[in-house]
Amino acid sequence: MEVLVTGGAGFIGSHMVKMLATRGYSVVTLDDLSAGFRDAVLAGEFVHGSLHDIAGLDALFSAHTFDAVIHFAGSIVVSESVRDPSKYYRNNLVATLNLLDAMRKHGVGKLIFSSTAAIFGMPQYVPIDEGHPKAPINPYGMSKWMIENVLLDYERAYGFHSVALRYFNAAGAAPDGELGERHNPETHLIPLAIRAANGALPALTVFGSDYDTPDGTCIRDYIHIVDICEAHLLALDHLARGGGSRAYNLGNGEGYSVRQVIEIVERVSGNKVPVHYGDRREGDPPRLVADSSRIRQDWGWIPRYSELEMIVAHAWRWENANAVPA
Ligand code: UFG
Repeated sequence: MEVLVTGGAGFIGSHMVKMLATRGYSVVTLDDLSAGFRDAVLAGEFVHGSLHDIAGLDALFSAHTFDAVIHFAGSIVVSESVRDPSKYYRNNLVATLNLLDAMRKHGVGKLIFSSTAAIFGMPQYVPIDEGHPKAPINPYGMSKWMIENVLLDYERAYGFHSVALRYFNAAGAAPDGELGERHNPETHLIPLAIRAANGALPALTVFGSDYDTPDGTCIRDYIHIVDICEAHLLALDHLARGGGSRAYNLGNGEGYSVRQVIEIVERVSGNKVPVHYGDRREGDPPRLVADSSRIRQDWGWIPRYSELEMIVAHAWRWENANAVPA
């Protein structure tokens, strides 16, 4: 089976490419390297190209016979999406339309799409199941929710089959230490807490300690990158069997506060995390926890690295072996 991975040089994409190759898939990565890293693509063919280049997409699909596409490419920083919505609607919505239409032209009708917990907006209840109302509060979340709707219209009109996986907080690193999280700039809690613990950052700023949660800091559901990738393999199997379109929430179902994450980083590293308590970050919901029982029931997905200690331990090893300048 030949699979195209867009954004295969990014955090989740690079782990996916590696896993696909290990499991015997033939893989092609398409990435414009605006956020990804060429050396993170450990297997298969690499194509340096953009989803905005329609002729380039046409050539790529002419040169291959893809059975399915896994679509990670996109812009992901919530705060940036508020400042620059055009970038988000172009890089997420428009780019995806270009991809879908290239697929359509070349008779490729199976897609796995990276969606997000941000489509739900401010949670009305937790844990959040698939049926929770969708009310994104920023252009990032809105662009992803729009695409989920586009995919359903493409199913109705063109018989297109897709699986949207709504990640909660992707974290961790490859257990063998080969790959890890590389964002520039890094905005995510676990890598920044680790950098504060190993001295690469002077301190971690905790964004708000007056939330309506037990310790006043925000609660999130962290999910290991390998468990996310495993869910994509199950989605590929589903589509290969001729299964119809689905959307699933992907998390461990357990919430950890920012303070609890800091404690775990301190335990794993043996170092103190210097902390500065700052203001709330705009648009942060107090509590985001997934109800992932649907994908567990439908496909038997079971997270292998559900322990946050393990997630942090893998990230800790990666950060120390690949010191990023502060
Ligand atoms: N946090 C800090 N200090 C930091 C970084 C983060 O206190 O330096 C806090 C945040 O305020 C939040 C928690 O740590 O409460 C987690 O923050 P992340 O930035 O690591 O992740 P988010 O929960 O903001 O983002 C995730 C996904 C997004 C998705 C969003 C949905 O990464 O793609 O959930 O709200 F859009």
